[in-house]
Amino acid sequence: MTQLLITGGAGFIGSHTSLLLLEAGHSLVVIDNYDNSSPEALRRVLELAGPGAADRLVVVEGDIRSAADLDKAFAAAPSGQPIEAVIHFAGLKAVGESVGDPLRYWDVNLSGSRHLLKAMQAHGCRTLVFSSSCTVYGLPETMPIGEGAAIQPINPYGHSKAAVEQMLADLAASEAGWRIARLRYFNPVGAHPSGRIGEDPSGIPNNLLPFVSQVAVGRRTELQVFGGDWPTPDGSGIRDYIHVMDLAEGHRAALDALLAEPPQLLTLNLGSGQGHSVLEVVRAFESASGRTVPYAIVARRDGDAACTVADPHLAAERLGWRTRLSLAEMCRDSWCWQQANPHGYGG
Ligand code: NAD
Ligand code: UFG
Repeated sequence: MTQLLITGGAGFIGSHTSLLLLEAGHSLVVIDNYDNSSPEALRRVLELAGPGAADRLVVVEGDIRSAADLDKAFAAAPSGQPIEAVIHFAGLKAVGESVGDPLRYWDVNLSGSRHLLKAMQAHGCRTLVFSSSCTVYGLPETMPIGEGAAIQPINPYGHSKAAVEQMLADLAASEAGWRIARLRYFNPVGAHPSGRIGEDPSGIPNNLLPFVSQVAVGRRTELQVFGGDWPTPDGSGIRDYIHVMDLAEGHRAALDALLAEPPQLLTLNLGSGQGHSVLEVVRAFESASGRTVPYAIVARRDGDAACTVADPHLAAERLGWRTRLSLAEMCRDSWCWQQANPHGYGG
């Protein structure tokens, strides 16, 4: 059993990963300010994790930009043991919002991460898994994208993630003993197969899968497909979708590697290596749900790339991890969550 601190553990990826870590027998402190999540997510995580899990989870409602909140979290371990490693999910992730309010993104993503690292130093914890994003690559020229591709973000969200990556590299170079994984996620989708936890975006979803599932369930009338004239086989944009349960497994594998191996700075893509177009996703969702998803092809969205697909070989080589779940399974589980929770955790 390892004593872990999970920042942002009530969020979409954090809740699924927390469940997996509880199931693996670890003991967790979660810190979350519920800026984009609900306490109900962690209540359901405990329900899924089964008897005894409640003794291994402490939730601290707090902000990663507050040294006092972080001290409280570092002292809250249910085992009474020191925190051995941190998985850092807490952050903001909406590209459009980051363009309109960049200072908020620099504050939460960069300053929040800096506060966390200071607290880790103060508490003698030097093992960290960080949620980065393929957004740090911007609009890459070669496909699939390897970890060696240039870092050239094109929006404030991407810049804030790239800056945290750089801060982590500087820290690892400055002081021996850091074990850090920078995980660059491609497009996380899906939900736990029980349909009890899933993605609960507030307002109009920015991302494709939540939008498609809200159309299928009747909350929205029609999907807008952003561009039908991309240089792809069917003209719609291609992405590398990854099931959130596969992504959660990727975190567990990265954590195990960091704890077992000598100190290192690990940088890995977490993706499937397979691209799917928007229209393929629509068809897969229609078969998974048995519902029609009406759509209209409209103008391209600013800042979109035609195609973004990971080269996932390094993660396979270093972690023995690869994705297992297909697009059909991503749609099946998103639909199961959407149907059971048409208005998310709110009812
Ligand atoms: P999410 O919004 O569902 O989860 C983030 C969690 O962090 C939320 O529970 C939120 O309340 C919490 N949080 C935000 N600011 C906080 C603060 N100041 N203090 C404490 N808690 C705070 O997002 P997610 O999809 O689960 O993403 C998790 C991480 O992965 C983020 O850092 C995100 O940038 C990164 N990421 C996400 C995607 C994606 O498409 N979902 C892709 C690549 C990277
Ligand atoms: N799309 C539509 N209609 C929609 C929403 C999306 O056609 O209503 C298309 C997009 O144009 C794109 C594809 O569906 O071709 C996927 O779009 P998403 O918005 O779901 O995902 P992105 O690849 O644009 O970006 C997302 C996050 C980023 C993150 C990136 C990689 O928004 O923050 O995944 O993790 F960096």
